Amino acid sequence: LHWRTVPQPGRHGRLRTTRSASACSHVGFGVVLAATTEEASKDAAPDSNSPASTNLPTTVSPRDVAAAIVANLPRNDVTEEGAEVAGPGFVNVRLRRSFVARRLADALARGPRAPAARRLRRVCIDMSSPNVAREMHVGHLRSTIIGEGVARLLAFVGHEVEKVNHVGDWGTQFGMLIAHLADCFPDYNYKTSPPTPLPIADLQSFYRESKVRFDKDEEFKRRAYAEVVRLQRGDADATRAWSLICDVSRCDFERIYERLGISDLVERGESFYQSRMVDVVRELEERGLLQEDEGRKIMFPPGRPIPLTVVKSDGGYTYDTSDLAAIRHRIVEDRRDWIVYVVDSGQGVHLENVFAGAAMAGWYDLERERVQHVGFGVVLGDDRKKFKTRSGATVRLSDLLDEGVRRADAKLREKEREKALTEEELRRARDAIAYGCMKYADLSHCRTNDYVFSFDKMLEDHGNTAVYLLYAHARIKSIARSAGVDVAAETARGTSVSLAHEREWRLAKTLLLFGEVVARAADDLMLHSICEYMYDIACRFSEFYERCYCIERREDGTVASAVNVGRVLLCEATAATPVACAAPQSV
Ligand code: ARG
Repeated sequence: LHWRTVPQPGRHGRLRTTRSASACSHVGFGVVLAATTEEASKDAAPDSNSPASTNLPTTVSPRDVAAAIVANLPRNDVTEEGAEVAGPGFVNVRLRRSFVARRLADALARGPRAPAARRLRRVCIDMSSPNVAREMHVGHLRSTIIGEGVARLLAFVGHEVEKVNHVGDWGTQFGMLIAHLADCFPDYNYKTSPPTPLPIADLQSFYRESKVRFDKDEEFKRRAYAEVVRLQRGDADATRAWSLICDVSRCDFERIYERLGISDLVERGESFYQSRMVDVVRELEERGLLQEDEGRKIMFPPGRPIPLTVVKSDGGYTYDTSDLAAIRHRIVEDRRDWIVYVVDSGQGVHLENVFAGAAMAGWYDLERERVQHVGFGVVLGDDRKKFKTRSGATVRLSDLLDEGVRRADAKLREKEREKALTEEELRRARDAIAYGCMKYADLSHCRTNDYVFSFDKMLEDHGNTAVYLLYAHARIKSIARSAGVDVAAETARGTSVSLAHEREWRLAKTLLLFGEVVARAADDLMLHSICEYMYDIACRFSEFYERCYCIERREDGTVASAVNVGRVLLCEATAATPVACAAPQSV
């Protein structure tokens, strides 16, 4: 806050916060303090022990405040003595080299640290959440990548994190799938135990076929509805068929998760809430929160422009109902106190409605629980239109990942890396580049914006891309190796990181920002700031490396004649930082 916003004496100058029923993030600000200069105490009313806001001085200049801070700054081992006032009221302090060296030695020994979150929470992250028998599309890819990033980050700062896959595995579409299944596989034995997997290679085509029949064949439609009713009643055969269809999808999803390195994703799809939806409707009804509307039961959370449809006119439940049951389960039953929905921004209205409905039902309290939509924009193609194949179809994720792998392989071969690497090394490099570049391209863009999916861009070896950072990291790691420095031994011996050169110092100060960058991102869940930070480190490193030799080479360029061990340690501390950013769970 600018100092002039300090309220005038006698006026109640409190800043207001507004809070809509479903705004669940805390946008905090600090307290406004008055400077305790002599001037200020002269201004204060003599008899006053009332709050400072009524007795604040209006005449203290920011420079005076800064001077008072400088005069009162205690001796400490973080900043040098001789802090000074600059400009309109800034306080310049200089970090002690000994402090920076200690922090970097610590990062080298134990990995860079971030302060633990002030309040540790039990977090539930709703992420990925594809739909059974329908395409897992690029939107789900974003949710998976961002969700995983958020999960790792929050676990890194100490929260207890559960990742939940809210799979779309319930609804009327299962009627037609079950009916179609019976026709396609009349001889299939549903009752073997363990079940024989359904011989469906392409469930999405199977879904499309059943939809075509549903739309034009009245008799089929009638059977499909009958199957839905049987399924909802818990009929054993219908349930078995439903579960087999879900298994086919599950295998497809699992393959994608495995390729992306996603594990411990708890599947708790919409079907999990079947009986809970019944309870939710009963509870809302008993508390008089539902209204009749042309046979539907709806709920109007305060301040929301549209209602929640809790029960349809045919008695069925909706996406609203399953999400109400899910939020209730997460907070009331599971006692989670931070729920993060990593879902495309297009579903913002729906989620805000659900949050407001849950608050109206009293299932959570803004002071206690944090409920939050981590939205993201649409994935666009090179033509800046919605990402599609050339023929206009939705891009299948597995095809997209295959394409990434092919492109990464071509890139490595273009650089003739296959000459230096074994088959196995080449395969690992290819996968690291392929999956890394897709994840990084997603994470490095501000998530709320739409983003253009372009393999050409993400595979560029300059700029803020995974390829550039992987390359920078590999290059930095090679320095200690070729210098023959035993980093662990040097750290244990207490050899100090070199900080004498101005570029070493700049790099070191950038590395020290790790904790602050991580802490901020772990609060606003804007992961691109971490990517920007990593890129910044890579740039600072290049500047350093351009000027500061770590190994002085002999004329013949072979043997290291002089190794600057302190600089090699700085290289290693640099390499450790993006590794901590990229894979915090391993630190
Ligand atoms: N299955 C939904 C979809 O594909 C996403 C579910 C998001 N999570 C939720 N709790 N609504 O659009």
